[in-house]
Amino acid sequence: MIAPYRFTPRARLLDFMRQAGQPHLINLAAGIPSVDCVPTAEIQKAFAKALTEESDRALGYQTPDGDYELRAILAERFSRRGINVSAEDMVTTTGCTQALHGMIRLLVMQGDVVACEEPAYYATLEVLGDTGVAVLPVPVKNLHGCDLDLVETIFLRHRPKLLVLCSTLSNPSGATIPNSNRLAILEICRRTGTRILEDDIYGELTETDNLRPLRSFDDGSTVSYVTSFSKTVSAGIRVGVCIPGGNTDAFALLKSQQDMHSSTLCEIGFRKYLQESDFDEHLRRVKQFNRCRREIASGVIEQHFPPGTKIWRPEGGFMLWVEVGVELEDVYRRCLAQNVAFGRGSAFYTQPGDGARAMRLNCSRPPLDRLVAGIEILGKILAATT
Ligand SMILES: Cc1ncc(COP(=O)(O)O)c(C=O)c1O
Repeated sequence: MIAPYRFTPRARLLDFMRQAGQPHLINLAAGIPSVDCVPTAEIQKAFAKALTEESDRALGYQTPDGDYELRAILAERFSRRGINVSAEDMVTTTGCTQALHGMIRLLVMQGDVVACEEPAYYATLEVLGDTGVAVLPVPVKNLHGCDLDLVETIFLRHRPKLLVLCSTLSNPSGATIPNSNRLAILEICRRTGTRILEDDIYGELTETDNLRPLRSFDDGSTVSYVTSFSKTVSAGIRVGVCIPGGNTDAFALLKSQQDMHSSTLCEIGFRKYLQESDFDEHLRRVKQFNRCRREIASGVIEQHFPPGTKIWRPEGGFMLWVEVGVELEDVYRRCLAQNVAFGRGSAFYTQPGDGARAMRLNCSRPPLDRLVAGIEILGKILAATT
């Protein structure tokens, strides 16, 4: 039976981020979209406007809560997805990372039991491990997420203080929890007194119709919500947002102690981008690009990977979670020697040995010919290993 345990985090984030900058690498490991999915020309215009029309504000200090007009625009966008909040209910952040980090620090302390999907985003695991919580792993069963009966059983037994969940296109599995299961999870958490930290960073990349964030089924008393525009617009401008739910001031205070406020120029430039461009049309294009890349990558995997390979086929996003029949440490080293990197499954687990036969592949970032070449190289090395 699953039980909570303490673990020592492994510093994966630093390695991944350093690797991302290596130009010679066919990087199937990175978590960033293609440059073709970044609206560079519109962002250039928007930032030029920020500097000409609002230079005093854009180059000065601002409130730790973030640019008010940006928050008002975001509130309007959230309301379309069923999240009814005002600018005052949210704090902009330096990426989703700061929102996740701050909320985990505010909500739990050393020794608390925190439930978390398994596999989960490695940087979230690092923060949980550093905080010294006892993690209660909730296995992702399939593309609809975890087994609700299991969640109910282990939550009733261990009463976790917090559940950290990437509800849509979870990283790395690609699982998306259907609306009905979202409600059920919320009900279980209300019964067990478990707060939910919903990471919705991939929410707007979903290709599932009418999907609603978990937070839209709640008034903020159970769900805290974090997201960013790193996967939909640009990772480098670092615009994220946190809807803490009840403890907005505490979050703003913590954030102000960390970095005073997020980049004013980036927030105003990003606000101008949202005001002047058709973001929804951009999202439609990005989704189409992602779908096309996932299909191409899946085809090459089917052709070149050994029999028995299982591809998880998510309804959106740009990453594939692939399970193979062999342990991948040695394969990884041989791939790197040929300048191909992939996301080792083990990075997304807390226990050594877990996830050793799985990998996460980014099908968006490399140019198409390099994507195909990279998967072919990986397939050859796998075939030679099995
Ligand atoms: C699930 C998840 N949450 C948060 C982040 C961090 O996002 P940001 O770049 O906005 O800090 C990532 C980045 O890969 C992610 O996959």
